[in-house]
Amino acid sequence: MKVLIVDDSSSDRSILRHTFQAHGCEVIEAANGREGLSKAGEGKPDLIISDALMPVLDGFGFLREIKSDKVLNSIPFIFYSAVYTGYDEERLARSQGAAAFLLKPMDPVDLWREIQAILDISALGQSANIPTALGEEEQFLRDYSHIVVAKLEEKVSELEDMFVRVVQVLVNLLDAKSPWTMGHSERVAEHAQDIAREMGLDENRVSKVYLGALLHDIGKIGTYDTLLNKLSALTEAEYQIVKGHPGRGADALEAIDQLKDVIPMIRYHHEKYDGTGYPDHLKYDEIPLAARIISVADTYDSITVTRPYRVALDTGNAIAELRRSAGSQLDPAVVQVFIKFLENSESTDLAGKGSELHENPRS
Ligand SMILES: [Fe+2]
Repeated sequence: MKVLIVDDSSSDRSILRHTFQAHGCEVIEAANGREGLSKAGEGKPDLIISDALMPVLDGFGFLREIKSDKVLNSIPFIFYSAVYTGYDEERLARSQGAAAFLLKPMDPVDLWREIQAILDISALGQSANIPTALGEEEQFLRDYSHIVVAKLEEKVSELEDMFVRVVQVLVNLLDAKSPWTMGHSERVAEHAQDIAREMGLDENRVSKVYLGALLHDIGKIGTYDTLLNKLSALTEAEYQIVKGHPGRGADALEAIDQLKDVIPMIRYHHEKYDGTGYPDHLKYDEIPLAARIISVADTYDSITVTRPYRVALDTGNAIAELRRSAGSQLDPAVVQVFIKFLENSESTDLAGKGSELHENPRS
């Protein structure tokens, strides 16, 4: 990459020169905007980094000249300057076509990283077809819009990732309220994700199943820690309270439009395949597939972790339990996929003999 450094301070130019040369860049230097314009015309650089306050022709005047030149106007132009106008420097620079306004002084490592990020967004020098004639402008704009869309998608993905991480923290806090449920939601989410992938769901749906599984017990917040930890059997009244958690969770999230696909997974994760579950006694395909998947994942985690009312089963015994419940509590097709997945996974213990699977409203 060829870089034109324009700065009236020789020491600042020297710092920039070393920074860019350390990353293999070829460097051209100029001491003011007028000289910079001349150097840019002579050996078209891939990037211009310029001070703002300079004699003869300042950075903004230099930028205007560059942007009005048909050959040079596509070169990414970055200001690297102390505060110049005292106004919103970044906004002012961008309004006139600069890619960014970086404030001096910056650590060279940070400066390089920042410039890389800016060039990723601009990316015009490498990725787009820079127009040299009027007929190429349409293609240029098309390429540019693709880059912008790609960057927006990247940002959306980052936000989604952050949202999932926040949800993970939230449900981990919920699960940590009881030693018996520590890590439960995250494990259920992992199992549900594995099943969804094995069933061939597209990655968008897989992500939603993961999120739904993470949130499946969110309705337990603020209700019944004592019931979760109770060693003896629940009374009928307690059982009814526990059974309310899918509805409470779904209702609590109802207002969040972005979760509309996830809410039915929460509401129906305790429905049973044969229609004897709750809250709405749905059966077979009436139960959303994602909820049937979460139900299998939830059941598996519940029986492979020790609870106050039951000792954990090993994988082999857990598989036997899943087989026993297929067709009654659980969707047999989902169970079949999950068992195949478990059997193909490393270190699976298939020595189990099976034992009775009990309805577990506290899972
Ligand atoms: Fe539950």
